[in-house]
Parts: sequence; structure tokens; C-alpha cells
Amino acid sequence: MNKVQHENHTMTLTDDLTGKSVKLPVMKGTIGPDVIDVRGIYGAANKFTFDPGYSVTGSCISELTYIDGDEGILLHRGYSIEELAEKSDFLEVAYLLLNGELPNITEKGEFVEAITHHTMVHEQISTFFRGFRRDAHPMAILCGVTGALSAFYHDSTDIHDPHQRMIASRRLIAKMPTLAAMAYKYSIGQPFNYPKNELNYAENFLQMCFSVPAEDYVPDPIVSNAMDKILILHADHEQNASTSTVRLAGSSGANPFACIAAGIASLWGPAHGGANEAVIKMLEEIGDVSNIQKFINKAKDKNDSFRLMGFGHRVYKNYDPRATVMKESAHEVLEELNMQDDPLLKIAIELEKIALKDEYFISKKLFPNVDFYSGIILKSLGFPTSMFTVLFAIGRTVGWISQWKEMIEDPINKIGRPRQLYTGYKSRTYQIESTREKKSIFNWLWKKN
Ligand code: ACO
Repeated sequence: MNKVQHENHTMTLTDDLTGKSVKLPVMKGTIGPDVIDVRGIYGAANKFTFDPGYSVTGSCISELTYIDGDEGILLHRGYSIEELAEKSDFLEVAYLLLNGELPNITEKGEFVEAITHHTMVHEQISTFFRGFRRDAHPMAILCGVTGALSAFYHDSTDIHDPHQRMIASRRLIAKMPTLAAMAYKYSIGQPFNYPKNELNYAENFLQMCFSVPAEDYVPDPIVSNAMDKILILHADHEQNASTSTVRLAGSSGANPFACIAAGIASLWGPAHGGANEAVIKMLEEIGDVSNIQKFINKAKDKNDSFRLMGFGHRVYKNYDPRATVMKESAHEVLEELNMQDDPLLKIAIELEKIALKDEYFISKKLFPNVDFYSGIILKSLGFPTSMFTVLFAIGRTVGWISQWKEMIEDPINKIGRPRQLYTGYKSRTYQIESTREKKSIFNWLWKKN
């Protein structure tokens, strides 16, 4: 941890008004741009830095994930996402993110066994579910129930105990598919399915979602491999909105279950994890290949708030490497399920072709992101669109918890507390008239009732 080289290198910032200069240290990681350490700037120059949306602000030091957005590179612990998606399964990637190395056979066996034996949830949680309306969005349920886990697993909420941190991490990875499947079953009025230990992680999740007590469920290996790949592709993505939310929540010492619930809330937004749901809605709205140009024009129109969902990314200014793997996987799954002629896939392929040749998208470097094809796969597997972000949350849980663990174990960790540029009133005197006004409103309400 903290293999940062503070080379004998500084940058000097000069205030053009006063001519006063501040020397700021430059930090060097292993790859990627250097980082200017601005921590001393307030003390030296009585100034804050301003970066809404944190586009150029490093909030932590991390060894987990590296993204080169210009080249379209994504590495987890140094391994490329393409190689991990091809050669690993999800639990190996989870182990890698959590522990820094791919597991050997013994380590893998122990990890799989531990995850498998943590998949059940406290039986009382099923009663908790029943308090929700049947038509509640599964993300609303997942957010609430994940936060509630801290009320069920007190023995793994002491963040200062490494053993409890490990147990909480494993519980979250193991239980998230169970909770997600329960949210789904609840929304369609079917009984909950218990996990089955003979199945692997992806198969087990599919079983909990799609089996019914009246019939046996036989997992299709192509389908469960696709599910596993989707989870790998969503496992971690550096300091995105939901991960930063988890870190910020955790920086105050909140327990890991509460922090992951915060991450789920952040993921829900359509600019983040909600985009795969939005992609399908958009493709359905387009309806036919002949309407694509109309929607492209809408996306380009400055006066129209419509955006091409599944296109563009804060960091990738090139093809999102996860989208390449996802596109291949979409073709494999649709072929296996005999759905090659799926109208949404046709629209998606054509839309991608047209957008990639359009000057607007080229000049703004807007390429398909991971969400562009993931929705098509999930829809073909039988998931309703409302479950798409829930599936994203299952995969991302391992990234969130690994980032949270890294933060807790980092000696420079301190509570996250950004500053601001205040543009409100300067100090004002409380007006006596306003008190009189308040009193008269109160009297009026009192008489009215
Ligand atoms: N369609 C049309 N125009 C777009 C799109 C899009 N999908 N995305 C960005 N633009 C345009 C913006 O209008 C803006 O134009 P301007 O410079 O003329 O004002 C320019 O490109 C830059 O866009 P920003 O919103 O400033 O870029 P930012 O980095 O803040 O946003 C984001 C990235 C939120 C992902 C954006 O591209 C978007 O809304 N995409 C659609 C939603 C989506 O697919 N989200 C999933 C992201 S991946 C994930 O979370 C797993």
C-alpha cells in the first residue's frame, strides 16, 4: 500500500494578482498521469481548489484498478479485463480484487467454499421483504435490505477488526445474489428460492431467479457463462460515482453493509448503473431501424435533453473494453437461445454503426459503453429491465467492498470532507418584521383549523 514516489519534483502555482508562489509536490504512481498534491495549498495560499464532478481530482491512492480512457484499457491488479473475462470466473476475479493475487487451487477452494456457505440470509430477512409493496422497484428493495443487513450481522460490523472485515466482505459477495433474486421473486409474486450449494455462483443466482418449486431447474452452461462474464465485466471500475460514494460513506467509520447500501443508491441513477435499463427503453422507443436517424438527430440537438443511452463515458474517450466483450457475449447468447433475429439487437447494431460514423459522436469521442449491450443479454436471459441495475450491483459489490477495505487499511484514510466556493449571502441581521410575519401566519393557520 502507498507505493507512491514523491520524487524531487514540484509544481509552482503563482497567484497573478499578488505574485505569491506556492510549491506543490508531484506524486508518481506506477502508470497514468502524475498527481499534484494540493493538500498544502490552503495553508500556504489560503485557497481551495475547485473541481465539481471531480473530473481531475484524485481522491485516494489505490492498487486495485487502472483505466486508460484514451486507449480503452481496463486493468484489475494489472490483469486486462479481456484476459480476465476469457480465462477467469467471477469468484477468481473477486478473490483477485480483494486479495491482490489470483488464487491458487487451495485458496480458490477455500474461497468458493466460504462464499457458497454464506449465501443464505437470516430467515427474518424474508419477513422484512414482505413489508415492501409488490410493485416496488427491485433497486429500492435491494438498497433497503442491504442497509438492513447491518441489523442482522452485528458480529461483522467492527471495521477495526481485520477478521470481521473479511467476514463482512464475504457475506456481502455471497448474499447479494440471494437478496437480488428475492427482490425479483417478490416483485413477480413467486416464492423465494433458497441457494443450492452444488451450483456455482452464476448458476445459483439464475436458479434462485428462475426456478419454481414445481419444476427442476437445469442451468444452461452458455447462459450461466454469460451471466458470469457480465459479473466480471462489472466487478470494479476505479473511483466512479458509486465507488466514491462507498468510500465517502465508509470514511466516517460507517459499517460495510451501510456503505454498500449507499453505493447501491448511487448506482441506481440513469447516468450510472441505470443506463442499461435506459438503453433497452431507448431501443424499444426507436422501434425500427428506419427511425434511428431521427433519434441520432435528437441526441445531437442542443435544445433536446435526449442522450443516446449506452454511449459516452466520463473516462473512456475510446471504445469501452467491456463493451467489446459484452458485444461478443450478446451474439453468443442470442445464438444459443435462437434469438439472432432479435429486433432490439438489430437496432443496437445499426445504431452503433451510424453513431460511430457521425461527426458529432466522433468529435466528442462518444463510444458505446458497457451498458450498451448488457441490457440485450439480460433481456434475452429473461430478466425484466427493472432488474438490470440490480445485476450490475451484484457484480460491483466485490469492487465496492475491495475499495472500502483498501480505504480502511490505508494509513492516510481520513473522513471525506470536500470544501466549497460559497456564493450565498454574507452575514445578515435577523429582521424583527419576519418574526412578526411568522407569528401572524401561525395565528392565521390556528384560526383556520
Ligand atoms: N448522447 C449525446 N450526447 C452526449 C452523450 C450521449 N450519450 N454523452 C455526452 N454527450 C455530449 C454532451 O451533450 C456534451 O456536449 P457539449 O460538450 O456540447 O455540451 C459532451 O458530449 C460531453 O458530455 P458530458 O455530459 O459533459 O460528459 P460527462 O463525462 O460528464 O458524462 C456520461 C458522461 C454521463 C456517461 C454521458 O456520456 C451520458 O450521459 N451518457 C449516457 C448515459 C450512459 O450511457 N451512462 C452509462 C455510463 S457507464 C456506467 O456508468 C457503467
